[in-house]
This record gives sequence, structure tokens and C-alpha cells, in this order.
Amino acid sequence: FQHKILAGKRVLITAGPTFEAIDPVRGITNLSSGKMGYAIARAAREAGAEVTLVSGPTALPTPHGVRRIDVLSAQQMHDAVMAGVEGQHVFIGVAAVADWRVANASEQKLKKQEGGAPPQLEFVQNADILASVAATTSLSGWPYCVGFAAESENLVEYGAAKRERKGIPLLVGNIGHHTFGQDQNSIVLFDENGHTVLPRADKLTLARQLVSEIGKRLEQRSLL
Ligand code: C5P
Repeated sequence: FQHKILAGKRVLITAGPTFEAIDPVRGITNLSSGKMGYAIARAAREAGAEVTLVSGPTALPTPHGVRRIDVLSAQQMHDAVMAGVEGQHVFIGVAAVADWRVANASEQKLKKQEGGAPPQLEFVQNADILASVAATTSLSGWPYCVGFAAESENLVEYGAAKRERKGIPLLVGNIGHHTFGQDQNSIVLFDENGHTVLPRADKLTLARQLVSEIGKRLEQRSLL
């Protein structure tokens, strides 16, 4: 008998980048292969959870037994998450959501003018999906929210500050250029007690460790 730490739990995960259209053939996006989010979805499923994965565009196969909802833009990701968040026990925001979308996106392909001026893009800020979910948690106590932070420096300092600012119990930090597209990663967990380093390993190993850490924290909460 193997104890499945997330048995009976519903887990909602975002993964991958988002894509923000400039016109029907062009757009801007964030760097994210989706590998870490997909590994977490797989690990949560292995741990007995019912897993929904809201995914931006990736080239990855759906993990076995996971329900996947495909989206392109941050707005679509936000809407899919908010439509599915009720009844979830855990929300893990792994997606690299574009902070801005193009305010003046064109319905038709923009034409390049010989010697002409390039188009001027204007941006509008996208809603913070993690913050929207965390706001629902403050009403019902659920879901338990886990955020990610990809930093390029000062991870320990920025990670702790970001956890506080986002108002979430657990934040996972990593150094962006050590992880993007790679099979390995190293992560730092920030919670109310401080931070813990999970040393460099393949993403599935780290995902399983993270799921086990989340499971332990849910068990502690239910004992309180
Ligand atoms: O503030 P920053 O973008 O660095 O925070 C990253 C965390 O917030 C990640 O968990 C990411 O999935 C989430 N996020 C989000 N919606 C946004 C921006 C970030 O859910 N619009």
C-alpha cells in the first residue's frame, strides 16, 4: 500500500507561456516550454489528485489521466481558470503569463511598408490570474495557492517579497535562465517559515518533491 498524498484532492494548474496577438500572424510571448508545469501535473496525478491543466501553447503531450484545457492568451487563461476554480483544493500557477497584451492588435495582417515607419504597438496590462484566485481563497479558504517566480538575480530576497506581495502561502522560485526549456531545474520554496532549497534535479523529480511538500502542508492545515 502506497499512501497517495493528494488522494481525493482537486488540483488546478496553469502551465506554459501565453501568446498575445499583434495581428493574425504575429504575436508576443514569454519564454516557457511548459515542462515544469506538465511535470507538476503528472506528479499531482500520480499522488492521487484529480488534475486540470490550463495550458498555453506548448509542444508537450498531455500527462496520463490529466484533463487539459488549451488556451492562447492571458485573458483566455484567466477565464478558463476562473470558470474552473470553484471546488478546487489547490491552485498552482506555473504559467509564464504575459504581463501585457497588445491594446491596438489588428484584425488584418499589418503590411510592411518599404522605407515606411514600423507599426507602433500599445500595451495594456493583463489581469493577474494568481492574484484573482488568491482573492477567492480569502473568502472560502480554498484553494491553497502556490505561485512561481522566475528571477534572474537575488532570488532569495525577491522570492520572499513576492510571496508576501501575492498573499499566498507557498511560492516556488527559480532562476529563469537556468530552467527555460531545460530538463533540469533547481528551486527554492518560500513559506511563512522561510526558504528551503531543492537542489538541481530533473523537473519530474522536483515536481514530485513539490507535490509532497504541498500535500504535507494541506495535512497540517486540516489538523489545525
Ligand atoms: O509577478 P510575477 O509575474 O513574477 O508572478 C509570477 C506568478 O504569478 C506565477 O505563479 C504566474 O503564473 C502568476 N501570474 C499570473 N497572472 C499574471 C502574471 C503572473 O497568474 N498575469
